[in-house]
Order: sequence, then C-alpha cells, then structure tokens
Amino acid sequence: MSKIKNLQKEMLRYENITYLKKNMILLYGYIMLILLKIKLKKLKKFDNIRFAQKSCSNINILKIIKSYGVKVDAVSLGEIIRALTAGFTSKNNDLVFTSDILEDKTLKKIIQYHIPVNIGSLNMIEKIGKISPKHPVWLRINPKFGDGHHIKTNTGGENSKHGIWDINKAISDLKYYNLSLIGLHMHIGSGINLDNIKKMCDSMIQCALNINQKIQFISAGGGLNIPYKPHEKEINLEFYYNMWNKTRNFISSQLSCPIKLEVEPGRFIVAQSGVLITQVCAVKQMGNNCFIIINSGFNDLIRPMLYGSYHKISVIHQLNKMPIVQSTTDYIIAGPLCESGDLFTTNHEGLLLKRTLPTVIPGDYIIIHDTGAYGASMSSNYNSRPLIPEILYQNNNFYTIRKRQKIKDLIQLEL
Ligand code: LLP
Repeated sequence: MSKIKNLQKEMLRYENITYLKKNMILLYGYIMLILLKIKLKKLKKFDNIRFAQKSCSNINILKIIKSYGVKVDAVSLGEIIRALTAGFTSKNNDLVFTSDILEDKTLKKIIQYHIPVNIGSLNMIEKIGKISPKHPVWLRINPKFGDGHHIKTNTGGENSKHGIWDINKAISDLKYYNLSLIGLHMHIGSGINLDNIKKMCDSMIQCALNINQKIQFISAGGGLNIPYKPHEKEINLEFYYNMWNKTRNFISSQLSCPIKLEVEPGRFIVAQSGVLITQVCAVKQMGNNCFIIINSGFNDLIRPMLYGSYHKISVIHQLNKMPIVQSTTDYIIAGPLCESGDLFTTNHEGLLLKRTLPTVIPGDYIIIHDTGAYGASMSSNYNSRPLIPEILYQNNNFYTIRKRQKIKDLIQLEL
C-alpha cells in the first residue's frame, strides 16, 4: 500500500496542479491513476475478475481494465453501451448484464449481442424466455441475509429488492422457457464483513446442490472493502479466496463438472486510484465552528452525505502562498451547494465532525482521497453545476478522459 501512497504523493506535487491550472484543463477534477494494476494482481488467483463498472464507468478506464484481461458487468443499457464501446464483447462471457428488471430497449441490445443475463427476478425469466430460448443466463441468488458498510448498501435478505428468493420456482421457470443456466451469483452488499463469507459459501453450496445441474461458473460477487480510515487494514484476500475456492471445489465435485470461480469487485479495484482535487473558496467562522467551503459538493462526490462515509482529506498550499509558520485548525468541510447537508465531514447519523488540517486560505487545494469508486459515477448536476473533468495521470502525463461539461450541454435538452 505504501507504493500506492507514494505514487499519490508524486501525483500531487505542486507543479502538477500548477500545470493543470496553467493549461486550463482543470481547476478541480478526478485524477485516475493506474494503481488498479496492483489491485488486480492481488485478485489473480480467481479464474475471472469481473469489474463492477458502476463504481467507475469511464470508457477509458474500462479500456485499461480490459487490457489486463478483466471482464466486466453492466447493469443498464448505458453500461452495456459503454462496455461495447470499450471493446468488450459477449465472447467468453466477457460481458454479463446483471439486473432485477429487463427493459425493452435493453433486451433488444442483449439479444442483438447475445449478452448473458444475470437474472434477479422471476419476471426477467419470462421476458427473456419468450423471445430468446436457450439464452445463456446466471441466477443472482438472494441468500436471505445481507451485509454492507451502510444499510443502503446491503443487498441481501427480505429488506433488499435484489436477487432471486424462490430458487425452486426460478429453476422450474428456466426449464419451462428452455433457458440455459450457466452460473450462480451472489452479491450480499458493498463493504462486506469477512465474518459473513462462510455463511455465504454455505448458502452457495446449498443452492448449487438443490439446483443439481451442471453449471460453468459461480460468482462471489463484489463488496470487498478498502481501508478508507488511517487505522483500517487491507482485506484478508487469502482467507476470502481460500473460502471460495473450497466452495467451488466442493460444488464442482458434487456436480461432476469443472466450475470457474469469479469475483466481481468495483471499489477494491479503483477506489484508491482516484482523488478529487478541489479548491478552497471561503473560510467562515460561525460561532464555535470554522467552515471551509470548497468548489465541489455532493454533486461531485455524494458518499459522505449519503452514507456518512469517511474520506481522507489533505491540503496542498498554493505554490506562491506557502505559510511561513505551519499551524492547524479544526475544520468542517462544506461544498458550495445551496443545501445545509452539503458537508464532507459528518458521521453515519449526519452529526457534524471536525477535521484537523493545516490552516488554509482561499485558493489552497483540498484533496479528497480514495474517490476512484462511486465518485464520478454517482455525480449529478444538482444546482445546475456541470460535471467536472476526469483526468488520467499515466507515465507522468495528464490525459483528459472526460471533458468538463458545459452549462450549454446542461440546458440543451430543455430548449
Ligand atoms: N456486483 C453487484 C451485483 C453489485 O450490485 C455491486 C455494487 C458490485 C458487484 C460491486 O460492489 P463493490 O465491490 O464496488 O463494493 N454507492 C455505494 C456502493 C453501492 C454498490 C452497489 N452495487 C458506495 O459508494 O459505497
């Protein structure tokens, strides 16, 4: 991990920010680093790594991920088109569509490209079965329990809308519509606790034995967490892999067929490859609280406001305005939006938290770390703020991989 931190430091040298500013490429934006290669290496024991592109769906990042032999998932027509544009095909199960619904236009594209479908509801079986018999499908099983770093990221159990509850009915429907079952999939949530892996594996075994037919794949889903807070540790991947590998081997022996083991992370692969660079616009003392207002809000990064998520925050002073004496201040970090909850430093309950940072003045840079996953991909145009650019830093060069949106683009559809 120190390799990653060093590269991040390298990227954040003053010259780089000055360069970006001077060239008017960006004043603030996402920088994606190619540290994801290091993360992918850690997953290499799995037969297939499938990138959950909802975490970061920039086509240029998808192309890089593809070049490392990684597969991809798509959860909407938009994500299918992004994957196809990045060069993924349905060959070798490289692109799989996962959802709980099948909209007509999506179904048309799926049939046109023969994309395998990971089925999350019985209605999907009927919809695809009526038009495309023998279509390759996976079943996304809801194991009747879930997990996640927040209640909103828990995708299992009866409080979740995701996955198939009644496996026996799903199997009889698959037979009725003559669909071809190729894999079993389970994703219990995002930011999972490894204490639940045994329960998940047991549930997968039970389902596979219950289904009792030959399959080609099982997927452990995604949800692997990363250390956002300074004291947090990297996930124990060896334990995780060993549990799933044993599960695969057992199912494979019981069903007498070779089975490939997949994993489907988003965050684990890209979160630490991104930072959000913002600038201090105002410093306001409000009674006992000192607020910094920066030029990015929950329109650019919503995780802290939606889940109370912690992101490391650091400061880079402007090159020509370095403080003579370094001091620190306890700040609340706020965005520019016309909404009181536009705060980057709150806890799960929305309570204000203070962050001790080097004392800043307007113009200094505030860097929000680990934003490569669910940062840009969850951004919005709230308060009519255009989407910020995404910049890729590779081999000491900067590439704009998503241009800054213009206000003109924003209003165009309304004229
Ligand atoms: N597979 C499926 C079927 C999923 O629904 C998800 C995430 C993943 C894989 C990848 O999960 P990951 O490895 O990235 O944790 N916006 C939230 C996360 C919601 C994820 C939704 N599904 C956040 O910022 O924490």
